[in-house]
Amino acid sequence: MTTMESLIGLVNRIQRACTVLGDYGGADGALPTLWEALPSVAVVGGQSSGKSSVLESVVGRDFLPRGSGIVTRRPLVLQLHKTEAGQQEYAEFLHLPRRKFTDFALVRKEIQDDTDRLTGKTKQISPVPIHLSIYSPNVVNLTLIDLPGLTKVAVEGQPESIVQDIENMVRSYVEKPNSIILAISPANQDIATSDAIKLAREVDPTGERTFGVLTKLDLMDKGTNALDVLEGRSYRLQHPWVGIVNRSQADINKNVDMIVARKKEREYFATSPDYSHLASKMGSEYLAKLLSKHLEAVIKARIPSITSLINKSIDELESEMDHLGRPIAVDAGAQLYTILELCRAFERIFREHLDGGRAGGDR
Ligand code: GDP
Ligand code: NA
Ligand code: MG
Repeated sequence: MTTMESLIGLVNRIQRACTVLGDYGGADGALPTLWEALPSVAVVGGQSSGKSSVLESVVGRDFLPRGSGIVTRRPLVLQLHKTEAGQQEYAEFLHLPRRKFTDFALVRKEIQDDTDRLTGKTKQISPVPIHLSIYSPNVVNLTLIDLPGLTKVAVEGQPESIVQDIENMVRSYVEKPNSIILAISPANQDIATSDAIKLAREVDPTGERTFGVLTKLDLMDKGTNALDVLEGRSYRLQHPWVGIVNRSQADINKNVDMIVARKKEREYFATSPDYSHLASKMGSEYLAKLLSKHLEAVIKARIPSITSLINKSIDELESEMDHLGRPIAVDAGAQLYTILELCRAFERIFREHLDGGRAGGDR
């Protein structure tokens, strides 16, 4: 792995350890600040705009519940951890720490079951996140958050307040300055009515942390195209728009797998009379690369402040450990210790890298 990959990997693991610890570190300590200093990607958009589908494509695995109506009913905080080549791919839930999932169909089932555990088999939502980690040689180190879709009306079985509740929940994620917003809009609806763009514009008016994603290009009316959006004329963002063709519901019903879907998507852009000139900058694989490049740039820019926070955390953690002595909750103690070790590793790799004379370099 490159130095940058190791540093980002450590940042990822520190975030995870902080999550396990909850706010044990105290609201004004360095740990919560450390968590806020690290970027994550929040996926926002209207219901059924294709959020979960895009997230799966970025990860390159099938593991999320998808479909029409309100399927995602709790935030899913998904941490991708890149492992060495040849390692077995597996997933782990925070609420099931000792179980390694190698069958991703079971991951999907556990997300559904754990959602139902909190909300019942209703159309209710809950702000309590599900934390899932995926360890794989085929992912980039990244934290992604899948969120319930924004809606305009409550449906049968939902309280009237649900429209506002969902918006508040989504806003609490995207208003944080460390949040990178993946704003999903379907191409078969007018971009001027996009819930994702409306919210993104509010919390990120300059568009510097918003990535516009246009899904369902294959479902546009014949004779129309999305070039005004994709070429930035309809709504300008600092980053280029990315067009996507996810699996349709019929594809999902037929169990069309990820490899086939990606191939179909590539062919769609390569052969489209409207989009072939943009083909190299379209599709979910391109989006995944764009995001990881951006994330790397953000982390690079923040390494000095992350390092000083980490030093502060090391001091705080050491004095906390001294202060607590033995009689503390074993789990909390172990987690503090883990964070301390990870922080020291980050410090060490960063130092070595500096000594190598190329701070912020990538090899
Ligand atoms: P979410 O509610 O925003 O998470 O959306 P989902 O990812 O669950 O997708 C909702 C529905 O739209 C599913 O039936 C998907 O198969 C379908 N869908 C999503 N993206 C596309 C696309 O690009 N093309 C087509 N044809 N269908 C899509
Ligand atoms: Na849906
Ligand atoms: Mg969803």
